[in-house]
Amino acid sequence: MDVFSLKDKRVLISGGGSGIGLAISESIIEAGGQIIMIGRNEANLKTATERLGSNAHYVVQDITALAAIPQMVIDIEGRFGPIDVLVNNAGINMKKPSLEVSDEDFARVLNTNITAAFSLTREVAKGMISRKAGSILMISSMAAYYGLDRVPAYTAAKAAIEGLVKTLAVEWGPHQIRVNAIAPGFIDTAMMQTAMQSDPARMNKALGRTSLGYFGKPEHIGHAAVFLSSEAAAYITGVSLRVDGGNAIGF
Ligand code: NAI
Repeated sequence: MDVFSLKDKRVLISGGGSGIGLAISESIIEAGGQIIMIGRNEANLKTATERLGSNAHYVVQDITALAAIPQMVIDIEGRFGPIDVLVNNAGINMKKPSLEVSDEDFARVLNTNITAAFSLTREVAKGMISRKAGSILMISSMAAYYGLDRVPAYTAAKAAIEGLVKTLAVEWGPHQIRVNAIAPGFIDTAMMQTAMQSDPARMNKALGRTSLGYFGKPEHIGHAAVFLSSEAAAYITGVSLRVDGGNAIGF
């Protein structure tokens, strides 16, 4: 099934050194692609590239340093070649009662999860549009699908991702750029452990409405990312694909 292959595709991913991002990177390499990870923690990125092999590379950059992004994209394309696929995976969560969320807290979560994702997308899309080819993937969340208490900034950011996907898919479709999201359910990573630790009621609630009855693994998201980035999804744009074990439709 060559249409699922990412052979010779160059994929840029934010936050690829851990959790879901690392699993996406791994799946993309298994599908024949080349990965360039952007992250803040060089030790993590180094360990990840050693594990992933010679098709994995990294760039150390905090994506919230917005002023640095345009030159970073130019440098990456100069060093590795044109980017075929962008995966906006980097994200942070913050769980607090809404009354305790300061303006600074709110802005910090939005800066990483939506503002930086937009900025990186805009810069990468410039090259994609000139080449009339490209796929952009965002990572949404169940927080954008139903009311999750105590994550107001995260929810606002993920709901914004859902809207942005539609706008960009419509605006850049005529240039043959596809823009989609994956909406993961509850996936067992450091982020989920932090949100669930010392909150067994929340964990049971999340699991209770997951039809398949278990938490997802990072590779479930990796496999969906390969599909949406490949020729197999050539006619798919503007969607948010739930990879959630049935969580969003659970009672
Ligand atoms: P994680 O905390 O394990 O990984 C997040 C990655 O983003 C880390 O590598 C981190 O260093 C990177 N990152 C954060 N801020 C950054 C910045 N300013 N610059 C560069 N890199 C930065 O979390 P996880 O679970 O792997 O999350 C990945 C994505 O999946 C996030 O967008 C998250 O919101 C989303 N997600 C996760 C779910 C879960 O259940 N784990 C559920 C729904 C969505």
